[in-house]
Amino acid sequence: MTGAATGEISRYFNDKAPKDIRRAIEKADKDDILSASYPYDAEMSSKAYRSEMEALQVELVKLQAWIKQSGARVAILFEGRDAAGKGGTIKRFRENLNPRGARVVALAKPTEAERSQWYFQRYIQHLPSAGELVFYDRSWYNRGVVEHVFGWCSEDERERFFRQVLPFEHDLTDDGIHLFKFWLNVGRAEQLRRFHDRERDPLKQWKLSPVDIAGLDKWDAYSAAISETLTRSHSDKAPWTVIRSDDKKRARLAAIRAVLAGIDYDNKDRDAVGQPDAAICGGPDIWN
Ligand code: ADP
Ligand code: MLT
Repeated sequence: MTGAATGEISRYFNDKAPKDIRRAIEKADKDDILSASYPYDAEMSSKAYRSEMEALQVELVKLQAWIKQSGARVAILFEGRDAAGKGGTIKRFRENLNPRGARVVALAKPTEAERSQWYFQRYIQHLPSAGELVFYDRSWYNRGVVEHVFGWCSEDERERFFRQVLPFEHDLTDDGIHLFKFWLNVGRAEQLRRFHDRERDPLKQWKLSPVDIAGLDKWDAYSAAISETLTRSHSDKAPWTVIRSDDKKRARLAAIRAVLAGIDYDNKDRDAVGQPDAAICGGPDIWN
C-alpha cells in the first residue's frame, strides 16, 4: 500500500493546511470551483459536457483512422502537479480509440541502469512509430519539476536538461513527429480536495503516492520549478499548451480540441472541433 490510506491527507487537512484553503474546501458545493481566479464559478453541466465530448470522440476516431492510413506519428505529453488530471484526460482521449496504436507511457522511477544512461534515452524508446499516437503520462519534464523539488537530480543535471530539451524536441518535430505538450494547472485547494477524495475512496487510493504526501509541503517549490520550466522550454516549434484544470470537464474538452485543431486529418468537422476555450487554455502566460 502507498501509505496514503493511513490518513495522512486528513491529518494535513486538519492540522497543517492553510486555513483559507481548508475553509474554501469545507464550504464548497461539489461542483463549485475553488480557485478565485478561475474564469467560471461552477463546473460545466454534465449534459453540455457529454454532448460536446461525444462529438469530439467521433473526431478522435477520424483522427486515428487518418494517422493509421497516413503513417503519421503523434506524441502527446501530459504534465502537471499531482492530481491535476493527467490520467483522467488521457483516459478520455483513448476511450473510443483502438488501444493498439494509442499507447500510454507512464514510466516508473528510473532504475540504476537507466540512471547511467543519457537522460532522454528511456523516453525515446517509446516514441511513436508510423500510425501511432503515444500519450506520455509524465515525461522527460520530471527533471524540470519533480526531480528538482525532491532533490533527485543535481543542479548540473537539470541545467544540462534545459540546454538539451528544446533542441531534442526540435529534432522530433523536424523529423515529422506531431508533438503536443500539455501542462494541466490545478489550484492548491482543488488539489487538496482531490487528494482528500482519493484517500477516502477505496477505488481511488492507488492514485495517492508517497510523493503526493511529501509534496503537500512543497507547493511553493513546485510553483517556482514549474514557472521556470514553462519559460525555458517553450518555443514556436515545441510550444506548451497550458490548461487550467480546476474543472476537469472543461480541461478534458480543451485538451482534445487542441490536438484535433492542431492536426489536419481527413474529414475533419471543423464546427465540431472548434477551438479550445481561450479562457482556460493558452500559452505559459495562462499559468500563474
Ligand atoms: P504519479 O503522480 O505519476 O502517479 P508519483 O507521484 O509517485 O507518480 O511520482 C511522481 C514522479 O516522480 C513519477 O514520474 C515517478 O516515476 C517519479 N519518481 C519517483 N521517485 C523518483 C526518484 N527517486 N527519482 C526520480 N524520479 C522519481
Ligand atoms: C493526475 O490526476 O494528474 C494523475 O493522473 C495522477 C496524479 O498525478 O495524481
